[in-house]
Amino acid sequence: MKILIRGGRILDPSQNLDLVGDLLIENGKISAIGKNLNVPYAQVFEAKGFVVCPSFVDIHVHLRDPGQTYKEDLESGSKCAVAGGFTTILCMPNTKPAIDSPEVAEYVIRKSKQIGLCQVLPAGAITKGRLGKELTDFYALKMAGCPALTDDGAPLMDSRLMEMALKLARQLDLLIMNHCEDDKLSKGHINEGYVSSLLGIAYRSPSAEDILVARDCILSYYTKGRMHIQHLSSKLSLDIVRYFKEKGAPVSCEVNPYHLLFDERELLKSGANAKVNPPLRREEDRQALLEGLKDGTIDCIATDHAPHAKKEKTSLESAMPGMIGLQTALPMSLELVREGVITLEKMVYLLSLNPAKLLGVERGIKVGKPANLVVFDPEREWVLNEKTNLSKSQNTPLWGRVLKGKVLMTLWEGKIVYNS
Ligand code: DOR
Ligand code: ZN
Repeated sequence: MKILIRGGRILDPSQNLDLVGDLLIENGKISAIGKNLNVPYAQVFEAKGFVVCPSFVDIHVHLRDPGQTYKEDLESGSKCAVAGGFTTILCMPNTKPAIDSPEVAEYVIRKSKQIGLCQVLPAGAITKGRLGKELTDFYALKMAGCPALTDDGAPLMDSRLMEMALKLARQLDLLIMNHCEDDKLSKGHINEGYVSSLLGIAYRSPSAEDILVARDCILSYYTKGRMHIQHLSSKLSLDIVRYFKEKGAPVSCEVNPYHLLFDERELLKSGANAKVNPPLRREEDRQALLEGLKDGTIDCIATDHAPHAKKEKTSLESAMPGMIGLQTALPMSLELVREGVITLEKMVYLLSLNPAKLLGVERGIKVGKPANLVVFDPEREWVLNEKTNLSKSQNTPLWGRVLKGKVLMTLWEGKIVYNS
């Protein structure tokens, strides 16, 4: 089976590749890149005016499987992923039961392989039951296929356990991730700022995040364990990461597209659908994050796709935090390109090449390599609604809004897993 993607802008900044031409896929692998390739009997995809780049890698998604499959499951989540251009996703362990044993990790891998749309990697929990008391069996989780560990949904508060986790992770080459928000300081619902004062709603301040980011960077600096800060959202946290990167600590961080494009005022428009942890912050935090993209402090864009049912998103106080994001990551990232914050090449690093490196998965457009590719139209407008949404949930401020930039085709190891 041969697939010819014809006349697209083939872009892979890691290979210094930026060429308008053709790309041939045979037996799951890229077999030729060039101009005017003449290939009889190939399935042809006309890509004139479109971008062809390495498929995306999302280092932070919640698929709710096992246990809360009314919100999402491995199948609906995989469908959202490939429709968003992702062929590798790291799913968080705050499932029921938690991914804290090889058995649950193996369930995720087995079921996602049966579904066969994309690579689903489980993030194992750092502590048993994500309760923050006792470390899981890191070796067993690694052997079962977890490249990273986190208690996400909750922070790991115990500094001694985090130190031990980083030391062990260094020996086993695991990535340790943390949801950084001090649980004593994060009892409220939205950011401390204009909107919390206006609405009189209990807040969680950026200091809750900054304190744990600082602690985790310090522990990474001393232990040399790889520490990844999840959904970083505050200016000071970013400054802390920048400082420790300069000192040579093996720290990395991700930012959610919502924190890059919205500030706390979005809560006034979208209500509970704009509630997320850590919360949307002030405009000056958002501006600092844009600087962090430019100067390379931020390693990747991760969606934190967090589906919740309608009945769980009624009032700001009672709503579960989180937003779906797999299908909207590309148009949101392209918005940053259109605004001149990042280049298209940089976007490919943030959505694909950098997160791939953190997880140890391969990406890149090179002859002989597996064809993990996305073809998208940066100009195409579309709306996320009942017809286009592939998630079981609808919790996003972007519901019903016009989005610019659409995935047209996604290939995973040479197989067309999405074709719009
Ligand atoms: O907003 C969030 N939602 N933040 C988290 O850390 C967890 C996530 C979820 O699981 O819904
Ligand atoms: Zn989190």
